[in-house]
Amino acid sequence: MGNLYNDLAAVYEAMYHTFINYEEEYILYSDLLKKYHKSEVLEIGSGTGNLAHRFLANQFNYTGLDYSKEMIAIAQEKVPNGVFLEGDMQSFQLPAPIESALITGRTISYLLQNEAVNSTFLSIHNNLKPKGILCFDFIDANQFIPTIANGKIITHDASFKGVDYSRTSHWSLNLEGGMNMNWDATYYKKIEKEFVKIGEDKSIIRTFTLNEVEIFLDINQFEVKEVIEKPAYAFPTYVIVAQRKN
Ligand SMILES: C[S@@+](CC[C@H](N)C(=O)[O-])C[C@H]1O[C@@H](n2cnc3c(N)ncnc32)[C@H](O)[C@@H]1O
Repeated sequence: MGNLYNDLAAVYEAMYHTFINYEEEYILYSDLLKKYHKSEVLEIGSGTGNLAHRFLANQFNYTGLDYSKEMIAIAQEKVPNGVFLEGDMQSFQLPAPIESALITGRTISYLLQNEAVNSTFLSIHNNLKPKGILCFDFIDANQFIPTIANGKIITHDASFKGVDYSRTSHWSLNLEGGMNMNWDATYYKKIEKEFVKIGEDKSIIRTFTLNEVEIFLDINQFEVKEVIEKPAYAFPTYVIVAQRKN
């Protein structure tokens, strides 16, 4: 993975507020959890804690899990009463089983190997109570892969606490191991009147077909309960609601 979640964690915090509607995400996930009568939630890829304070303010028993120290440090400062654990979703062990797990913000896109997806779903299964719920979003390969324009530069601007930021990014197909894309981004900050480069992030992002996600869930003893189409800020995505079978 690139630098976005370590060296550039503060820039993520500054910019992504303006791309992502966290209030909308919170409503979607909290409504789903209420529908399945779950009040304990583990958020995997909890990032800088933008959903954490909303869950806590609404009486959910919330725990965050992320493998970036820098993202957790920002989350913990913003949400002092939040519990944020440092760990890898591919192999983690909570102190006690939990009623539900979310993987938010398309964090599953970083699991490039099938074995990584499999071990993540197995770890989640092992940390859920019987009939526990797993919800996550993923980029839909069917809709997204054919639209990638090689070489096209996309610019996003954002202002946060009086500072102007800009990001130029560019996607290209990477079919070496699956339906993936290279995502190269350069970040800038306005200092006096000039935008100055503050960092680069190069990552490989995985997209999935709905069918392969269903297979991973099935072999890890999850039953798919709902498939919800939900466009994200730059990607066509699906949200899956699955239930631990036993
Ligand atoms: C796209 S960000 C999403 C953050 C947050 N959910 C949001 O929407 O703003 C992905 C997050 O997942 C974390 N992450 C990536 N791979 C992970 C893994 N294998 N285990 C735990 N966290 C991971 C990153 O450190 C980062 O904070």
